[in-house]
Amino acid sequence: MNFADSEVVGAILGKAGYGLCNEPSEADFVLINTCAIRDNAEQRVRHRVRELRALQTRRPHLRVGILGCMAERLQSRLMTEEDNLSFVCGPDAYRRLPVLLRQVREGMKAAEVELSTTETYADIEPVRMDSNGITAYISIMRGCQNYCSYCVVPYTRGRERSRDPQTIVNEARTLFDNGYREVTLLGQNVNSYAWKEECEGQGVGFPELMQMVAEVDPRLRVRFATSHPKDLSDRLLEVMARHENICRCIHLPVQSGSNRMLQLMNRKYTVEWYLDRVDAIRRYLPDCSITTDVIAGFSGETLEDHQATLDLFRRVRYDYAFMFKYSEREGTYASRHLPDDISEEEKTRRLNEIIALQGQIALENNRLEVGRVYDVLVEGESHRSKVRLFGRNSQNKVLVFDREDAHPGTYRRVRVTDCTAATLLGKLVPNES
Ligand code: 5AD
Ligand code: SF4
Repeated sequence: MNFADSEVVGAILGKAGYGLCNEPSEADFVLINTCAIRDNAEQRVRHRVRELRALQTRRPHLRVGILGCMAERLQSRLMTEEDNLSFVCGPDAYRRLPVLLRQVREGMKAAEVELSTTETYADIEPVRMDSNGITAYISIMRGCQNYCSYCVVPYTRGRERSRDPQTIVNEARTLFDNGYREVTLLGQNVNSYAWKEECEGQGVGFPELMQMVAEVDPRLRVRFATSHPKDLSDRLLEVMARHENICRCIHLPVQSGSNRMLQLMNRKYTVEWYLDRVDAIRRYLPDCSITTDVIAGFSGETLEDHQATLDLFRRVRYDYAFMFKYSEREGTYASRHLPDDISEEEKTRRLNEIIALQGQIALENNRLEVGRVYDVLVEGESHRSKVRLFGRNSQNKVLVFDREDAHPGTYRRVRVTDCTAATLLGKLVPNES
């Protein structure tokens, strides 16, 4: 989401006459787009700010500011002695950046942190940054009002709002016309996407939007993130099943395998409900990969609760998981009412147990792939070797294979020959001439 937001910022500042440069040492302004979801994300930003401070001694006119969720959370606290930043700009205020930077150039400090109930940056064509020219993100909605008890996002990104579907389809079409072959539709909870005004005679929900984007061209792959399990609908699964170019991969954050924890987390579903959704995915889309997010050591988590998470992982057998230790965030319901009472060591121990189990499951899942043939969208050179390329299959698994006559930006068939827990190794199936 921040990556997509930075591309919007790039477009806004480009229009105001600013250009991108490659190194902070060439810059007049450095804008750091930040995440506030866990304390370690914020610590990394603080470290970066300290590095830039050292650069400022050699480049005194360099100005550093912070964008995004940390700006929203800490606001002008970031401009005092300790951090001494020149400007802060929250996620809904990017259109004001040209004004902000002008004030900073005139020697002032500047802050814009107002949240909006309507801003979606719908009319802004993002400047693609660090792009491979093949895959791109499209933001379809902003904000979140699920108020999971541990989560700071509803406070930093404001209320949920959806972007005009026509502008989303147009952006996807422009990307396709420019050679892109995959788009990922982004939102904190895409399943609650809702455009109530009429668009071609009816309101548009997420399944309809997916259909509209999938129909841009069958050669354009469509992915999406993130789905909240409480509203993953059969209607969406039906639309996915009807469109082969909607990728067979669903990210379905579970957070915990214990109903007691899920209730304290205010997730609004039970383990039984979650498993029913997993069954529905497997029914409609038998070859669909499922991935998740999980939090270890939330308030009051007992060993039994933790075991329930491990059991759920054994049941669902995810292909991939983002695994975190609970990090208490100021202002959330949990920080006010639920003690952060699991020790750091115990959180680490539980997290490591989940990581070890998930590593084993991913490897076993990948071993079952050996011998299968997949349509792979070739993305570029493998990081380890120039004679090898990598790409992804519909399930979002990375395949690495010898280059032969393949080119980035094209689809090729690849047979899986070997694997690790993270990667499938394969061989090109010759193109029929
Ligand atoms: N501590 C740890 N993990 C968190 N997440 C969100 N808030 C917290 C927190 N306070 C995780 C959730 C979410 C992912 C994006 O980040 O798993 O799905
Ligand atoms: Fe945070 Fe929950 Fe919203 Fe996700 S759905 S952004 S975890 S409040």
